[in-house]
Amino acid sequence: MTTSTIAQNASVTSQPYGTTADGQSVEEYILTNANGVEVRIITYGGIITSVQVPDRDGFRANINLGFNNLADYETKSPYFGCIAGRYANRIANAEFTLDGKKYTLAANDGPNSLHGGNVGFDKQVWQASPVEGNGEVGVALRYLSPDGEEGYPGNLDVKVVYTLTADNGLRIDYTATTDAPTVVNLTNHAYWNLMGEGQGAIYDHILWLDADRYTPVNETLIPTGELAPVEGTPFDFRIPKPLAPGQRSNHEQIVFARGYDHNFVLNRAEGDTSVKLAARMYEPTCGRYLEVWTDQPGLQVYAGNFLNGTLVGASGRIYRQSDAFALETQHFPDSPNQPNFPSTVLRPGETYQTTTIYKFGVA
Ligand code: BGC
Repeated sequence: MTTSTIAQNASVTSQPYGTTADGQSVEEYILTNANGVEVRIITYGGIITSVQVPDRDGFRANINLGFNNLADYETKSPYFGCIAGRYANRIANAEFTLDGKKYTLAANDGPNSLHGGNVGFDKQVWQASPVEGNGEVGVALRYLSPDGEEGYPGNLDVKVVYTLTADNGLRIDYTATTDAPTVVNLTNHAYWNLMGEGQGAIYDHILWLDADRYTPVNETLIPTGELAPVEGTPFDFRIPKPLAPGQRSNHEQIVFARGYDHNFVLNRAEGDTSVKLAARMYEPTCGRYLEVWTDQPGLQVYAGNFLNGTLVGASGRIYRQSDAFALETQHFPDSPNQPNFPSTVLRPGETYQTTTIYKFGVA
């Protein structure tokens, strides 16, 4: 075990986690801060495997869904805690055209391509090194995605830095460069339950979103292209409200996705690229909240609709439908095929750079 402790009792530690089926060693990084927050990240998929945070009474629990061994992550993970890419979320009919050339991707979600294809960034072993400075600790992950991998053009050099801040934020800084025009959309796919993973459904969690609009989808969860107002629909979270009524609504959009699984258009003034508060989930019994700060245009709210009781989580409990929520900061789904959505094209000489912060607290 390699440990290093810096000022203000923050520390970053690494230790072996396991070996993949094809023989690659995987390390686990453990980040802690002075307030009792502990985050564990493995180099396989850049997966966040555990986030321990105190509740209102100081009782710590792991609020991040995951497994307790590498083999489960390799064979059955529904993208728990991972870095999703090269294109997070869906691309319609698993194809897109860029500069007049058509690219074909893996159709791994019905007719569509989801989260980078068959072997996305969530299934790669990333190069890692510890990061320290300014009273904060972190881990820097790097992956070189070769030209043509999963059908995407261009060698993409990707860096993702996870930093645990002194004020209980898990900041994720993504950067990428390419040597040929390509499309990029990166996110983290953590599933959360503020009562603790395996502690039941998230129906009583209360959500606030800074979003006046969302992107309605068709039956295969591809956006229709419309930016629809949330007003008068189950998608209106501008005043905080529990997930339960909407999650069980008969609204056509909810029926298509078996619950919330939709991209929201975050409110943002034209040209504003600052990192700002986009969402807040609160659980009134334990008092924990999770805030999402981001510079991204969209936020996928997913309520664990496809968890079906077949996965046994880290603490030995099965995960059932709606046992977690994900708040995935990103560009809108299917942007490469939607000329009216903000562009996800990255060209040589440009740098893809985005930041998201998951901030933990109690109220
Ligand atoms: C998608 C869901 C999908 C899940 C897979 C989410 O980002 O929106 O539709 O089932 O990822 O784990």
